[in-house]
Amino acid sequence: MENALRTAAYVSKIAERQVALKATNATLLAGVGAFVVEIGSGHGHFLTAYAAAHPERTCLGLDIIAERVERANRKKNRARLSNLHFLHASAEDFLASLPENVRFADVFVLFPDPWPKRRHHKNRLMQADFLSQIAAKAGQGLRLYFRTDDIEYFAAAKAVVMEHADWQVLDAPWAFEYETVFQERAPSFQSLVAGLRE
Ligand SMILES: C[S@@+](CC[C@H](N)C(=O)[O-])C[C@H]1O[C@@H](n2cnc3c(N)ncnc32)[C@H](O)[C@@H]1O
Repeated sequence: MENALRTAAYVSKIAERQVALKATNATLLAGVGAFVVEIGSGHGHFLTAYAAAHPERTCLGLDIIAERVERANRKKNRARLSNLHFLHASAEDFLASLPENVRFADVFVLFPDPWPKRRHHKNRLMQADFLSQIAAKAGQGLRLYFRTDDIEYFAAAKAVVMEHADWQVLDAPWAFEYETVFQERAPSFQSLVAGLRE
């Protein structure tokens, strides 16, 4: 009984969070056809530089660590960028809370948590369901840019893309170079660009 109550409270908390996020997304993305998203945007270095270089594009970064989002927002405010927003949200909640009509222009996933233990692989972002959710809201010419310093995660993510009915690995250049915090620390890394199958 106690467990059932705890589960019900947890489920209702997620629903509440998604309702609030839905309202935020509806406001930020009103009138926006396609937007650029960075999932796990950390301190916001990459997306702030990207948004400054692409003033015509609406850019949205999200991260589950509130303090990182606050720092990213301070960066955005200092740079006075009206086309950039950082949200305290998980990828899962964010994807479940998007307005019907918005589309992804480009998606960046830079140095996501690698969850190296096999029993934790289910927590990785780069999974078939995630790719399906993005594909369902694909804008014209959508690209997914993935970068990691974890060799095993890179191979697994590449395999997920190759095995997915909607996606393929592209021989395409990296869209925009700007070192992230984790990139700076990494002795080496690998990058993958993916697009929808034609
Ligand atoms: C290893 S850090 C990389 C941060 C930044 N991209 C960089 O390269 O410096 C991974 C980031 O993803 C965030 N994160 C992890 N799981 C997430 C999720 N489900 N949704 C959104 N962000 C997530 C973490 O809080 C963390 O800031």
